[in-house]
Amino acid sequence: MGIHYDDNGRMFKLDTDHTTYLMGLTPEGYLGHVYYGKKIKQFGGAYRLRMQEAPFTPSVNKREKSSFLDFFPMEYPTGGIGDYRESCLNVRNEQGCMGAELLYVSHVIEKGKPGLPGLPASFGSEDEVETLRIVCRDEILGLEAELMYSVFAAEDVITRSVKISNQGRENLRLEKVYSACLDMDHRDFEMITLHGSWARERHIQRRSIGYGKQMVSSFKGESGHQEHPFLALVTPDTTQEHGEVYAMNFVYSGNFIAQAELTQFHQIRMVMGIHSEEFCWKLAPGETFVAPEAVMVYSSEGLGKMTRSFHDFYRNHMIRSPYKYKSRPVLINNWEATYFDFNTEKLLAIAREAKANGIEMLVMDDGWFGKRNLDDSSLGDWEVNEEKITGGLAELVRQVNEIGLQFGIWFEPEMISPDSNLYRRHPDWAIQIQGRENTQSRAQYVLDLSRKEVRDYAYECVAKILRSAPIAYVKWDMNRQLSNLGSAKLEPDRQQELFHRYVLGLYEMQERLVTEFPDLLLENCSGGGARFDPGMLYYSPQIWCSDDTDAVERLRIQEGTAMIYPISAMGAHVSDCPNHAVGRTTPFETRGHVALAGTFGYELDITKISPEDRAQIPEQVAMYHKYNDLVREGDYYRIASYSRNHMFDCYGVVRKDKEEALFTYVQVMNRPNYHSRRIFFKGLDPEKLYQIEGEEGTYTGDVLMKAGYLVQNLWGDYKARLIHVVKA
Ligand code: DGJ
Repeated sequence: MGIHYDDNGRMFKLDTDHTTYLMGLTPEGYLGHVYYGKKIKQFGGAYRLRMQEAPFTPSVNKREKSSFLDFFPMEYPTGGIGDYRESCLNVRNEQGCMGAELLYVSHVIEKGKPGLPGLPASFGSEDEVETLRIVCRDEILGLEAELMYSVFAAEDVITRSVKISNQGRENLRLEKVYSACLDMDHRDFEMITLHGSWARERHIQRRSIGYGKQMVSSFKGESGHQEHPFLALVTPDTTQEHGEVYAMNFVYSGNFIAQAELTQFHQIRMVMGIHSEEFCWKLAPGETFVAPEAVMVYSSEGLGKMTRSFHDFYRNHMIRSPYKYKSRPVLINNWEATYFDFNTEKLLAIAREAKANGIEMLVMDDGWFGKRNLDDSSLGDWEVNEEKITGGLAELVRQVNEIGLQFGIWFEPEMISPDSNLYRRHPDWAIQIQGRENTQSRAQYVLDLSRKEVRDYAYECVAKILRSAPIAYVKWDMNRQLSNLGSAKLEPDRQQELFHRYVLGLYEMQERLVTEFPDLLLENCSGGGARFDPGMLYYSPQIWCSDDTDAVERLRIQEGTAMIYPISAMGAHVSDCPNHAVGRTTPFETRGHVALAGTFGYELDITKISPEDRAQIPEQVAMYHKYNDLVREGDYYRIASYSRNHMFDCYGVVRKDKEEALFTYVQVMNRPNYHSRRIFFKGLDPEKLYQIEGEEGTYTGDVLMKAGYLVQNLWGDYKARLIHVVKA
């Protein structure tokens, strides 16, 4: 299998199908990083630890220990004793001093992969994954660190996480516990990250790396719109097909840091973990802290290979939902159709028209409960507003089902409005700093999910509704970031645990939900796509990608998202025009083609759109069903990027057996007086004979990929074409 230990050389070797990861031990027991990259057959390479070079290892030269620590490629660096680069673990003792030093004690190699208590974590059978646990210790503190590496050979993925246990006699304070570190010699790497804002999430950013630290992070309590828990270091020539890529992605939905640090000796240290700002965990004797998982991918074949490794990995080993390999019902959501202004009559009118056009589910969005007719009240009062929903929720669900649609519903369970019965009863349930005016965002506060009674209440509100009627789908929203961190229940020396305890509380609630309602289709959401991360994928097979449903803006958003996440996970809908986020009008057909690269659904008032647009819906629904198996399970290839060329976009999905492919071409801007545009398909079998649906002639994959395919100019801007390639 994939993990080996060489007792003579004291080295660990982790092999996936195409990659090798090597670690070595110094005579004292420091665990050093030797190599990560293309597969190497034999053990070896310990010289890369440079133990023969001055200042030698500490046992030989105690005098220069700090020079050693500040240079040695450390697998899991600790702070306070002389490694001045970014540390992964900072521990303060009862005297108030910070310092720890981890030395190897033992290791175990086992088949399979254990879960992480309370946290989302990848999984796999004993044939699919193998795990190495390396136990290291700081004798002075009585602190044990278990470094866990799991090897998913077929996907070329190695995951990492860390367990810190206090086996000593005094309380310890963990001021920083990152999940992964990668120390390498710098090779003019560039870094790729994702940045954004509300309505423009996950745009790709590529930049060169200078001396010092460069990072992306969040301390908003969620992974966030702005930066993303993802970092890739790439060699300068890297494209979709070529170049070396070292990527990390964090399986966590709260504060994070992803950082590259270029040091004085031209080494690069890449780290990922929970952000240390406003984090401090009190670890009493006997207690253990578990850091979330980081996913590492190395590709020697460019970004495309990295993407496909992540996609396969998340599909096979992170998403648990029974829907992951199933077509999801085509839904229509009333948010952009009505906002808060709806009632039973309007919803049923939408449902009837939707049914007549082949749509399969109605989702009732925000505004059905309490007295919520705007976004300024009632979060926490999860009782249906019978003035809007006459006869109650169960009756509405019955009527919608009778029309022939499934029913879905929106919740925002983590929140509390100052104007709510819940807040009037339990003002202390909101996260807040005593004596300081609490900060509102979208006129709401955040519930203190670190408290069990609060979680129980919020969970029961959702569960009670789901038990009351046949509800097939839930959209779980979260519309503000955390601030004014304070919990009425936590001890003063545990207040800095709140950010993490909040995320653990959220995970606990979602775990309860998917356990009690195993057939529920859950879609996570956060003011658009502010919590689109692998942690949430563990609970929901799809996540709302962005509140920007404009077909052109979506090209950028979906390109960045699909660089890491399977497109079957991207919530994407056809909405009305002029688009509500940008005011742009694009053809209905283009909106459909762009939404096809996602979960596919509608977000418009079907009773009000033009008859010409409406007439396209049955065809689009049929198109979704025709292609969804391919879109959901195929291999994704990026062919051209509108974000880079500002003219057109092209991507494709290819069936695993390479017998079928679908390429989407979007001509954002037309050009006058040009001939057709040549695009080069990817991922086909060079030997196989293909034909393009609706066209004459056959071509080998080789020709289509090397000589290319000519897309005729389309008349007008914002035009799109689907090119369906099938085996001849
Ligand atoms: C933000 C979501 O992204 C929207 O789709 C919608 O559900 C609103 N919240 C409702 O408040």
